[in-house]
Amino acid sequence: MADTPVNWPFTPSPLAIDIVGAQGCHLHARDGRKILDAAGGAMVVNIGHGRREPGEAMARASSAVSYVIPPFVTPQRMQLAERLQRDWLPPGFTRLHLSSGGSEAVETAIKLARQHHFAKGDTGKWKVIGRDLSYHGATVATLEIGGHAARRAPVAAMARETPKAPPHYCLRCPLGKTYPTCDVACADEVEAIILREGPDTVAGVIAEPVVGSSGGALEPPPGYWRKLRAICDRHDVVLIADEVVTGFGRTGVRFASEGEGALPDIIATAKGMSGGYAPIGGTFATERIAEPLERTGDAPMFYTFSAHPAACAAADAVLDILSKEDLMARARVMGDRLGARLQRLKQHPNVAEVRGRGLLRAIEIVRDRETLERFPAEANITMKVLNGGLAENVYFYPGGTGAQRDVIVLAPPFIVTDAEIETMCAVLERAIDRAVEGDSLSSRA
Ligand SMILES: Cc1ncc(COP(=O)(O)O)c(C=O)c1O
Repeated sequence: MADTPVNWPFTPSPLAIDIVGAQGCHLHARDGRKILDAAGGAMVVNIGHGRREPGEAMARASSAVSYVIPPFVTPQRMQLAERLQRDWLPPGFTRLHLSSGGSEAVETAIKLARQHHFAKGDTGKWKVIGRDLSYHGATVATLEIGGHAARRAPVAAMARETPKAPPHYCLRCPLGKTYPTCDVACADEVEAIILREGPDTVAGVIAEPVVGSSGGALEPPPGYWRKLRAICDRHDVVLIADEVVTGFGRTGVRFASEGEGALPDIIATAKGMSGGYAPIGGTFATERIAEPLERTGDAPMFYTFSAHPAACAAADAVLDILSKEDLMARARVMGDRLGARLQRLKQHPNVAEVRGRGLLRAIEIVRDRETLERFPAEANITMKVLNGGLAENVYFYPGGTGAQRDVIVLAPPFIVTDAEIETMCAVLERAIDRAVEGDSLSSRA
C-alpha cells in the first residue's frame, strides 16, 4: 500500500475491503481471507472470477485497435453484435447501442423512447413513468425515473418529476389488495397514471421485470407484463425493460421479460453482459422504435467509450463461455436449489419473505413476522447482517431504498456449488440471529 493516505472510496465505507485476487466464487482479501461472493459483486459476476479468456481477448483487442469512435466498425464490435443477435436477443431486437454500464444503458433507453416520438412529430410525448422501489441508475435522469427515494432525494430539485406507479410488492401490497383477487391492479395503476397525465405527454414506461436489489427480488405476478404491454400499446407508449440485473441468464432465462410472455420495445442491460470483466452496457430496440429516427436521420448519441473494442471483446468472451458451458441452465438448476435452501429460513421468526428467481434471490427481515413491523432504521439490521456475513467470510448484497429496508440479496455466480449454497445460507441464518439478538420479539421458539 502507498505510504501517503489515499482517499478511497470517496467517503469512508464499511465495505472498503482490500481485495487482491478472486477465483471462482471467492474473493481473496489482502489479509489472506477467502470471502464467498454470495452476491456476485453487485449481481454482476456470472461465469465466476478469475477466468483467463476475457482478459486474453481484451489484450488482443487492445493491441489490435485501442480506440476508434463508436460508429466505426471493428471486428470486436461486429463479433459481439453478431453474437448478441444470434444467441441472446429476443426476436425483433435488431438495433443495438452500446455504452459503459447500466446507468448509461437506461439513460439511452429513456432518451430513445423520447426520440422515437419526437422523430414521429409527437413532440409532446416526453414523460417516462417508472415505479416506486425500482432503481434505474445513478445519473440525474435515471434517478428521477427510479423509485429509490434515498438516492433520488439529493438531486430531486434538479430533475423534472414524473409520477411513479406502485410496485408489485405483494407482501405489502401498496393498494392493500391480495393476488389473485387483485387482478394485478398494480399494472392498471400504470394506465391510470398515463390517463391522468395525458397519453399525448407520455413517451415511455420503464420497469425491471424482476425488481433487483432496491425492492429485493420482487417477482411480477403472472400476467403483469402482458398487462403492461397492452396498456403501452393502447396509448402508443414505449415499453422499456430494465434488465441491467436480470439480463443474460441471471433469472434462468436470457431476459426475464422474455420469460413473461410480453416483449418490451427497448431492453436496457449491463452487468452480466460482461460478467464483470469489463464495463459495458447495451440498449436494444426493435425496428419499430428505430424507424422514425432513421427517417429523420437521428440516432441515439454515443458515449466516447461506447462499444469500446476491449470491452466488446470481453463481453464476447463471457457470452461465449455462458453458451459453451451452458451456464444459464446451471443458473436455473442452482437457482432452484438456492431457493429451496432459503425456504428453510422462512422458519426464522424474523424472516418475512424469501423471494426471487434463478440466481437472483432475496430475503426480507422484519421485527415481527405477523404484523410485518420493520426494525427501526437506526437498528441498522442490513449492515449488521452484512457484517455478520463478512465475519464468517461471506459477502451478501444490501438491498432496499431507505424506506424499504432490511432486504438481503443473494446473486452468486452461476458456477456456485451445492456446498457454497449451504455455506452462504447457514452463515446468513447465523448473521440474522446475531443482528436481531436482544430484540424481545425475535426470540426463537
Ligand atoms: C436495475 C438496475 N438498473 C440500472 C442500474 C445502474 O447500473 P450501473 O450501476 O451499471 O450504472 C442498476 C445498478 O445496480 C440496476 O440494479
